[in-house]
Amino acid sequence: MNKKTIHALAGLALACSLAPVAAAQDVKPEVAIRYRQAILRAQLWNVLPMAAMVKGDKPFNKEQFLLRATYLDQLAAMAWEGFTPGSDQGAPTRAKPEIWKDMAKFTQHANALQAATPKLVAAARVGTLEAVKGPFGEVTKACDSCHDDFRSK
Ligand code: HEC
Repeated sequence: MNKKTIHALAGLALACSLAPVAAAQDVKPEVAIRYRQAILRAQLWNVLPMAAMVKGDKPFNKEQFLLRATYLDQLAAMAWEGFTPGSDQGAPTRAKPEIWKDMAKFTQHANALQAATPKLVAAARVGTLEAVKGPFGEVTKACDSCHDDFRSK
């Protein structure tokens, strides 16, 4: 690797590490709203196949479950930076204005999800339906309780 490549990579690494901060401060509300909705939809995309397996609508598939749990664990960290100041409006949104009045409580809900998803990944590594049922329930409880408080119908 020559010096130029190393510089380019270092620059890229820096750009990547700064990106979330810059995004959180500079984007228009409508961009933030679309971003967070996309991530939340991606969370659901991964929750649905796991729900089908837990309910018994689909046979339990260890590899699929672990993949979905792993993706969800990543996504669980990503949506919250999209709740930028002032983005309670600017595009169609179901985010309640209460979020910005009580960011601490909202963050608690976000943290609850982020505490639950690594446990789901660990259970998915065990690789049995019995192991994942409880932790999956914890995850969906974390989704629902935040929606109850902070998402309008
Ligand atoms: C910390 C609070 C919180 C948690 C935890 C949470 N959500 Fe949400 N969710 C919201 C809010 C607020 C909205 C409305 C966002 C908007 O419209 O701007 C939303 C919207 C959504 C939407 C609709 C997105 C769209 O297209 O408009 C889906 C789907 C969704 N959430 C799925 C999930 C799933 C699945 C989980 C759990 C794995 C989850 N959410 C966890 C707060 C949360």
